[in-house]
Amino acid sequence: MAMLHELKGPFSSFVDVENGTIAREIFSDEAIYQMELERIFARAWNFMCHESQIPKTGDFFQTYIGEESVIATRDKTGALQVLLNSCRHRGNAVCRAESGNTRSFLCTYHGWTYDLEGKLIGVPGFKDFYKECLDKAKWGLVKAAKVASYKGFVFATMDPEAPELEDFLGEVGRMSLDLVAGQGKLVAVEGIQKNIIGTNWKLAVDNLFDWYHGEMSHASAMMAGVMADPNGGPLSKEAREAILAPNNHRIILGDYGHAIGGPRLTPEFWETFEAGQIKQQGVARGQRDESWRKRPEVLADLGEIGRDVRGHPNIFPNMWIANNGQICMRMPKGHDKTELWWFTFVPEEYTEEERKARIAGANHAFGPAGLLEQDDGENWDQSTRGTRGVVARRYPLNFQMNVGQGRVTRPENGPSYIDGPMNETAQMWTWRAWAEWMDAEDWAALQNNHTRAPQDGEFV
Ligand code: FES
Ligand SMILES: [Fe+2]
Repeated sequence: MAMLHELKGPFSSFVDVENGTIAREIFSDEAIYQMELERIFARAWNFMCHESQIPKTGDFFQTYIGEESVIATRDKTGALQVLLNSCRHRGNAVCRAESGNTRSFLCTYHGWTYDLEGKLIGVPGFKDFYKECLDKAKWGLVKAAKVASYKGFVFATMDPEAPELEDFLGEVGRMSLDLVAGQGKLVAVEGIQKNIIGTNWKLAVDNLFDWYHGEMSHASAMMAGVMADPNGGPLSKEAREAILAPNNHRIILGDYGHAIGGPRLTPEFWETFEAGQIKQQGVARGQRDESWRKRPEVLADLGEIGRDVRGHPNIFPNMWIANNGQICMRMPKGHDKTELWWFTFVPEEYTEEERKARIAGANHAFGPAGLLEQDDGENWDQSTRGTRGVVARRYPLNFQMNVGQGRVTRPENGPSYIDGPMNETAQMWTWRAWAEWMDAEDWAALQNNHTRAPQDGEFV
């Protein structure tokens, strides 16, 4: 690992911010991937689950930090715990279920038992075989260094030097979660849709900011009515343009690589919306309407800049908040494999009909049965293969759409944003941050050496 780093110079040399190009090997090199697990996933705050998934003592949800299985649970005091799912004896998993309720975690190998705080409370043969010479207090499950939740979204970090969650999220990460939490009191739909695709995780992240591919990649899905007109049949070209708004995008750039990219709601949209002339176009996909954005308590969090975001937020590294109530984690499973985990959230106040519409919309858009994801996955798989070849690697990938031409606006209280036509700015922002995460030896270095949200008048 270190050798490759030394040979090729700093990771920032893989990402040419000024020219908008990226070296292909960051998407296929095993040594780089191993370093990502260490410097990104084991360091960052990672999304675990929503509090509505583990409301009671003993509830648990099994998830991942990088490739490592962890258990998010609620202990006897009601506190959230995140425990590494690996027995301290021989490393076996102590939890095999995806979720459930338990009093303790019993290892199926030799029977060591851990309580909800990860303490080792049971060791078969403790008296007869160990002669009581085993310091149980030292052999509890490994615990996350920090666990915290923001508006019900539970995160954990394995790095004790990490800043507090709200500081890690910053204004853009918080806004990203406000954009879903603001829709109402959220409840996670039971069952997570999981789908493995032969792609490097970063190409899957890259795509969530990519509004360029829709007309091409999803042409057949659109013909099949994935974005159906509420009155039946596929959407007209004009209606699709109204949704994709290629000339009215808003990019919001935050610290540590958090970003939001995609269409925005324009003043013209609000005018017609207020006049009752248009129903929210996404109604068939389970988006109720947009009026929640104007509730005073929501507006207080989002501000007017955030209120009009209809694009896609990504909380670095891999948490995508889609605008239909779905949240996707891009879970790395090797340098050329990614598991996509889709969570669906429905506000409690939705009617049964609205709830069904949202879930049906989610099922047909993303996840194993999602038309869009099938299209996307094919392309990511081929793109990943295209980053491997010894010849192909001599030629970088192109991210030049609008590079250096996006003029930043930053109101006094933030955030920093760019309005304009479709572009690849959010992608480059994220991969620039990727290099900073990879070059930083530790959290202190990352905090000191990362690119801050740009200032008013800057060009990105
Ligand atoms: S591996 Fe868990 S008890 Fe031995
Ligand atoms: Fe897509």
